Amino acid sequence: MSGSLATEDFEFLRRVVLDDAGLVLDPEKTYLIDRHLVPLLRRSGHASIPALLDDLRRNPRGPLRLQVVEAMTTNETSFFRDAMVFESLRSAVIPELLRTRRASRELNLWCAACSSGQEPYSVLILLREHFPELASWRIRYVVSDLSQEMLQRTRDGIYSRLEVARGLPPALLAKYFDAHGEQSFQVKPELRRALDVRCINLVADWPQLPTMDVVMIRNVMIYFEVPTKRRILQRIKSLMARDGFLFLGTAETPRLLVDDFVRANAYGCYQLCGV
Ligand SMILES: C[S@@+](CC[C@H](N)C(=O)[O-])C[C@H]1O[C@@H](n2cnc3c(N)ncnc32)[C@H](O)[C@@H]1O
Repeated sequence: MSGSLATEDFEFLRRVVLDDAGLVLDPEKTYLIDRHLVPLLRRSGHASIPALLDDLRRNPRGPLRLQVVEAMTTNETSFFRDAMVFESLRSAVIPELLRTRRASRELNLWCAACSSGQEPYSVLILLREHFPELASWRIRYVVSDLSQEMLQRTRDGIYSRLEVARGLPPALLAKYFDAHGEQSFQVKPELRRALDVRCINLVADWPQLPTMDVVMIRNVMIYFEVPTKRRILQRIKSLMARDGFLFLGTAETPRLLVDDFVRANAYGCYQLCGV
């Protein structure tokens, strides 16, 4: 058990995070609890994690609950994370959609669990770089996360030197970002305006969403239990166009969870069978 965290505190926190976000706390990795909650202590003014959890127990429906759940999420991300995924978007998926949607000239994309926004901005940059013809299409790009802090970061599109050094080629930095102070960069306004940033908790009700041509839900379902993954994939299946594309993280697969998704002819990507 982590430093000072008693079994009943761990159990209480485990339940809150599971109920509210579907996230499974690994009892073997309780050191992660300190890493996630100590920064929150500084903001909330609690003297310790047990004191924070006591407060939450007394006010189970107050604003602290959301802060604790958000703090327990893992927000690791980077620009063009898993380069092969972006290569398959460039070489296979978008060319195919350009062909099949040429009559409607409409594309609907969803990046679920977008964290601080590097993933959707990487997609937008790829579209701008390689598919200028899309400028005259109607593109709806819903990007969502559970964490308000991550959504605000996505809207702001401000990244440190370290963050842009992780995956963003210098030429693309120069073309699509403005300097923001000495040490950071901000995504140009026209790219920021292209995102429809929404708070969507994958384990709660989803808002009305359009039929999606591409869904990227990467590196989040690894934290969920099997029935939760199955439910989410079912919902995505009913939301996707019959010939749409689903991208999962490299350690994730729909196999044994939902029938009908098969590997597409593109890396990291699935389609409904029979397409
Ligand atoms: C590891 S990041 C993945 C970011 C990005 N998709 C990538 O692959 O680089 C996981 C994200 O999932 C979000 N998340 C966790 N539980 C969620 C839930 N129940 N609903 C929506 N987002 C959730 C977290 O806030 C975090 O930003």
